[in-house]
Amino acid sequence: MTETTPTGNLTFAAIEPERGLAAAMARTPEDLLSEVARSGLRGRGGAGFPTSVKWSLAADSPGEEKYIVCNADEGEPGTFKDRVILCNHADLVFEGMTIAAYYLGARHGIVYLRAEYTYLRAHLEQVLRQRREKELLGTSVAGRQGFDFDIQIHMGSGAYVCGEETALIESLEGHRGEPRNRPPFPIDTGYLGRPTIVNNVETFAWVVAIFARGADWFRSHGTEKSTGYKLYSVSGDCQRPGVYEFPMGITVSQLLRDVGGIGAKAVQVGGASGQCVPASQFERTIAYEDIPTGGSIIVFGPQRDMLDVARNFLEFFADESCGQCTPCREGVPKLLEGVEMLRRGRCSMDFLNELCSLGQSMQLASKCGLGQSAPNAFLSIVEHFRDEILGRADSRAHAGMS
Ligand SMILES: Cc1cc2nc3c(=O)[nH]c(=O)nc-3n(C[C@H](O)[C@H](O)[C@H](O)COP(=O)(O)O)c2cc1C
Ligand code: SF4
Repeated sequence: MTETTPTGNLTFAAIEPERGLAAAMARTPEDLLSEVARSGLRGRGGAGFPTSVKWSLAADSPGEEKYIVCNADEGEPGTFKDRVILCNHADLVFEGMTIAAYYLGARHGIVYLRAEYTYLRAHLEQVLRQRREKELLGTSVAGRQGFDFDIQIHMGSGAYVCGEETALIESLEGHRGEPRNRPPFPIDTGYLGRPTIVNNVETFAWVVAIFARGADWFRSHGTEKSTGYKLYSVSGDCQRPGVYEFPMGITVSQLLRDVGGIGAKAVQVGGASGQCVPASQFERTIAYEDIPTGGSIIVFGPQRDMLDVARNFLEFFADESCGQCTPCREGVPKLLEGVEMLRRGRCSMDFLNELCSLGQSMQLASKCGLGQSAPNAFLSIVEHFRDEILGRADSRAHAGMS
């Protein structure tokens, strides 16, 4: 199975199979961890948590049985880079999970695969079978006595919130996919209550590249705080949408040049839960220290109505909120209602300010990342496009009305 990208081959295409695994298993677990730490790799699922820190915390948690989970739920609007990795480089993902298992002493790995990617399952099972035949999974992996590890695929439940790691674990355990309170974190109370490493598809694939090419190679790209390369799914008003690989830290305008998005009015970096960057800020960098993203980039051309954009994202969150906590369950529909009023030009400045303070409360008080980030797009659109919003024909007439 192959999928092409506008930029042609990704670094992953040039990584020799099994080289990373062999290099990792030639080290002691402590050495292996130092190499991941030296690379500076941070999770590619969005939050950018340092991968080596997560792994070492899971190793320090007491317990005989530990798990490796690959988050392949990929539900963020505008994200499809994990799908390309799974189509073209599934071996690397499984190899990265195997390296994590070797480090942690885990025997079981699970890929939580987005329900809409059911069509990928046969391909992934075939790659797993081939790895078992090559003794890269199963008992005595790669000939190492005592290292037994295998991977199974678990189909996702079709809800965006199931990509949140604790909801994902609930779902894996057969429960309704609702986020848990954190702490405890999955690194000590994860799948079946056991220490569990949850990493994104791309994170596991980069681990292999780091061992195949060395931590120095990885950290020689990107910025000091955001090392290496990252995959981006680019969609919207540009000439060449698709999956791209760039070093971390490029500017929004550099990215727009490559994807044919010059003249854009705004770019949504980080999907529905990310932030809307206006043209005046296109020299900002895409990096954890500036504008972070799990990889979703949506380009908006000059003709786009930014209130339509905000409404679209809020409708998504209204559908996807699990309803467990009040700020998110009640806040998202309220914001949506406010946007509808704004669109009809029936909203005063006071009301707009109230909507913004509701959004800020949701960021602080929601239980999980879904509710905490649901107002992001709305708030950044209000911040950067206030004139456009208030400039709608009869908004002006209603300005001052409460
Ligand atoms: C609502 C929500 C959805 C998420 N969806 C995904 C997802 O589809 N894939 C993913 O890797 N991480 C997703 N995350 C982040 C995960 O909770 C977790 O941080 C990530 O899998 C950790 O992997 P990493 O350290 O390799 O980035 C989501 C978070 C939230 C709050
Ligand atoms: S923030 Fe939203 S999705 Fe998260 S627990 Fe609360 S209601 Fe559920």
